[in-house]
Amino acid sequence: MNKKAILLAGGAGTRLFPLTKIVCKQLLPVYDKPMICYPLATLMLGGLRDVLLISTPKDVPMLRNYLGDGAQLGIRIEYAEQPKPEGIAQAFLIGAKFIGNSGASLILGDNIFYGKLDFYRDALAIERGACIFGYQVHDPQRYGVVDFDAEGKAISLEEKPKQPKSHFAVPGLYVYDERVVELCRTLVPSARGELEITDLNLLYLKRKELHVKLLSRGMAWLDTGTQTSLLEAGNYIATIEHRQGLKIACLEEVALRMGFITQSELASLIDRLPKNEYRDYLRLVCDEGPSVSHPEPER
Ligand code: G1P
Repeated sequence: MNKKAILLAGGAGTRLFPLTKIVCKQLLPVYDKPMICYPLATLMLGGLRDVLLISTPKDVPMLRNYLGDGAQLGIRIEYAEQPKPEGIAQAFLIGAKFIGNSGASLILGDNIFYGKLDFYRDALAIERGACIFGYQVHDPQRYGVVDFDAEGKAISLEEKPKQPKSHFAVPGLYVYDERVVELCRTLVPSARGELEITDLNLLYLKRKELHVKLLSRGMAWLDTGTQTSLLEAGNYIATIEHRQGLKIACLEEVALRMGFITQSELASLIDRLPKNEYRDYLRLVCDEGPSVSHPEPER
């Protein structure tokens, strides 16, 4: 496998202003933790430990302040700037050196996935080509949209089409082989001045090397793009967490369950946390140890 991970936390957060005047969107709370924890947990649960976090020059210092070099989670986090919002695919050019000759998986910093992540682990295991996902939504025109033929093979991909050909949106989680940087170099900016991730995916589709997996309706892929959807995402997380007494995307817990840190490393990390409910939760996790059968739905 050995793929590198890119977490793209870009954008001006225009739609969420004034919430985003001081803090970037990806550090806004989704119930009890910053939004960025959710996509980072997804990468970690996929087994990826080499992460490049890309954000605006203004926000990189804040994100670095929060997550550091990742050592406390048993992962490596590097940082890079995207000076202007010039497209998701630009992340691969910014990260070219970081990616080197590996494949790469990109997740958007405002995408929240909740459920069994087998689909992602299977995609990461694919050696050649790219893999994207399809998720049924009621408002596909807001997203990249994938359409299928009668045999279920992807035949078209369109970015925010006015008349979507299907109800399947493409979530902001992508997996590519080692040709990704080279292919990105051939892209030209779209009408809105961005290197479109959909154009990159089309290059793989034309080569018949694009895998598209549909996420089951039992998966939650939540949007945080508007005040309402941000609130709904927070309420969703709170509902599940209260019901189960388990936290979703608790990074320290994920690190322990994945074997990225030891029980004693978690214990000394807990000692440095302020005394509150989050710390009490981690204390329970630590006392139980790494091998509990139902730590996260993904495991
Ligand atoms: C981006 C992509 C789009 C994708 C979406 C997922 O859109 O361009 O294809 O479906 O992320 O969140 P954005 O909303 O960032 O413009």
